[in-house]
Amino acid sequence: MIQTCLFPAAGYGTRFLPATKSLPKEMLPILTKPLVHYGVDEAFEAGMDNMAFVVGRGKRALEDYFDISYELEHQIAGTNKEPLLDEIRNLMNKLTFSFTRQNEMKGLGHAIYTGKTLVRDEAFGVILADDLCVNENGEGVLAQMMRIYERYRCSVVAVMEVSKEQTKSYGVVSGRVIEDGLLMVDDMVEKPDPADAPSNLAIIGRYILTPDIFNILERTSPGKNGEIQITDALKTQAKQGMVLAYKFKGRRFDCGSIEGFVEATNYFYEKIYGKK
Ligand code: UTP
Repeated sequence: MIQTCLFPAAGYGTRFLPATKSLPKEMLPILTKPLVHYGVDEAFEAGMDNMAFVVGRGKRALEDYFDISYELEHQIAGTNKEPLLDEIRNLMNKLTFSFTRQNEMKGLGHAIYTGKTLVRDEAFGVILADDLCVNENGEGVLAQMMRIYERYRCSVVAVMEVSKEQTKSYGVVSGRVIEDGLLMVDDMVEKPDPADAPSNLAIIGRYILTPDIFNILERTSPGKNGEIQITDALKTQAKQGMVLAYKFKGRRFDCGSIEGFVEATNYFYEKIYGKK
């Protein structure tokens, strides 16, 4: 029902310099697949078929990944290496990919606003591919959120519990519990001082947004760090109507940090090759 998934991927990724000097961090691989590939898998599983990217520098690496590589494919055709491209080919056959460019890095809210041209006037998913989510025995996080959206038809953010100290690294929400694992948001703060955090529920990189968010973002002034924050826009949206915070099932790796990236690598290595 929701067709488009937006991937904001224009950030500088400074924690991975120098690798991210010429490569978007979303192209860093966990084993053999770049982070963005895991994100596209999750969106596809949730039923979305239009993958929309907001890119900055290193745009070509992302575009080329979702395009045919004639020379390479010709070279390995008929060899035992050919199946290595099966997964990406399968995605390319089933999905469409579009790209737009964020010329100035003015924050996640601004990146999402830049994606307006790629999103029709309907609700859409957002994946920050550096948050890699897995749910071993059930459906992926975005698919879980789709079910919530189908019932409530409003914006949904995925949240997880963190320690009070860690709240300073996240958007933090508070609200009223309306059912098990689901809150109606009444407050949101971007990267609060732990003493001011309204709760210990941190937003991770998964959203379903209704299209009125674009008008709100257009009128949202720069907030924390001088950036246009999606958190501020969502707080406005929560006041005007309803925004839900969903405690997702599964595990999230913060692959925007070195520790999270290594953890995810070890997790998939063990899972795929059965080794630690
Ligand atoms: P981060 O806060 O992780 O920033 O952005 P970053 O630049 O990617 O990484 P560091 O902190 O310098 O290492 C969260 C998400 O928002 C996107 C990023 O690509 C990432 O997916 N983003 C952020 C944009 O697309 N544009 C922006 O202006 C800011």
